[in-house]
Amino acid sequence: MTSLPVSGGETQGVGELGDAGGGFVPPVYPFDKLTVFAELAQRHEGGAVDLSIGTPCDPPPAQVLAALASSGAERGYPASIGSTEFRHAASAWMSRRFGVDAEPSLIAACVGTKELVAGVPHWLRLRSPQRDTVLYPILAYPTYEMGAILARCRAVPVPARPDGTMDLASISPEDAARALCLWVNSPGNPGGQLDDLAAAARWGRAYGVPVFSDECYIEFTWAGPGRTILEHGLEGVVAVHTLSKRSNLAGLRVGFFAGDPDLVEYLSSVRRHAGFMVPGPVQHAAAVALGDDAHVDLQRAIYATRLERFAKVLSETGIPADTPAGSFYLWVAVPEEFAAGGSDGTSSSWALTTWLAEYGGVLVTPGDTYGPAGTGHVRVALVQPEDRLELVGRRLSAAKIT
Ligand SMILES: Cc1ncc(COP(=O)(O)O)c(C=O)c1O
Repeated sequence: MTSLPVSGGETQGVGELGDAGGGFVPPVYPFDKLTVFAELAQRHEGGAVDLSIGTPCDPPPAQVLAALASSGAERGYPASIGSTEFRHAASAWMSRRFGVDAEPSLIAACVGTKELVAGVPHWLRLRSPQRDTVLYPILAYPTYEMGAILARCRAVPVPARPDGTMDLASISPEDAARALCLWVNSPGNPGGQLDDLAAAARWGRAYGVPVFSDECYIEFTWAGPGRTILEHGLEGVVAVHTLSKRSNLAGLRVGFFAGDPDLVEYLSSVRRHAGFMVPGPVQHAAAVALGDDAHVDLQRAIYATRLERFAKVLSETGIPADTPAGSFYLWVAVPEEFAAGGSDGTSSSWALTTWLAEYGGVLVTPGDTYGPAGTGHVRVALVQPEDRLELVGRRLSAAKIT
């Protein structure tokens, strides 16, 4: 096996070129590695409490489900770029909620944002074949890197400053010259930090690199108002949004991207040829969801309470945890009792994850799932109801870190 070059020419073995024919061999899916913890946690009476994947557990608004069933849009093919209704609703949401003016013509639908994140390098490379590099935050949602690998590009992580924001000054001019795009993610998964989107837009314009701003947690910004990169002009930037988190609609697979007219036009045209379409009934339901803020305000209150309470549970257990500036994740530093890692040679993140599964019956995600920079942390997704979190609290109150 030869490893595919990633991360500025280094090899991480994330995607492998097989010996026979040199074909791509997909790596193990990150969350599939966590089944061992699930088995441990499941042994508790009351079962495992899953705070690993950020999949919402709360119900979507009733009017959205009603809209899904009553659109009458089942028969015909939907518009790949998104229906007029959907694009107007997205535009109105951005203007109402964040004060930016993104006309419906500058907005296009995507089938949830994961496929967009994974596909952007491939499509941008069709546009700029002389470029081959994807820049993304060093601590990040794994799909930024995977999108680069799937497009046979170089995935180059951008180091973070001590506050978790991207250190754009550390990007070498050589990498900038080869870059197809720069990804930013604010509020960030897993760290919850808020990045300087004005600086990212400026950097992209200075180097002629499109900046893609993944803003899927924007509604769960706790430190001040939600921020979008589109506040800093449209030129060279694309904001990426999803209904998955905002409206608990991860199962519908719907999102959109908005911004620079040329980029939106190019991407939506390529995607149309490739047959990417959000189903018509889903587009109608998403338009209804985007038109309503009351359910989001309710959800914000739910996450804020859970973050606060579970941070307290962990802190009282001897695992100090701070609430984030954004997102519904706690990004928790591994206490020194676990610093040496597991007796089986696993990292400190895996050692704490194992302990939490064993004593709390709770599943969290080891920080190294988000890149080597995540070692020494675990991510806790507050996606279970209050009674399940209290159950973990009771289990942990009887446990002692040794
Ligand atoms: C940072 C980030 N971007 C994108 C996504 C994908 O969301 P979806 O595909 O549901 O729109 C996620 C999901 O967890 C995420 O955390």
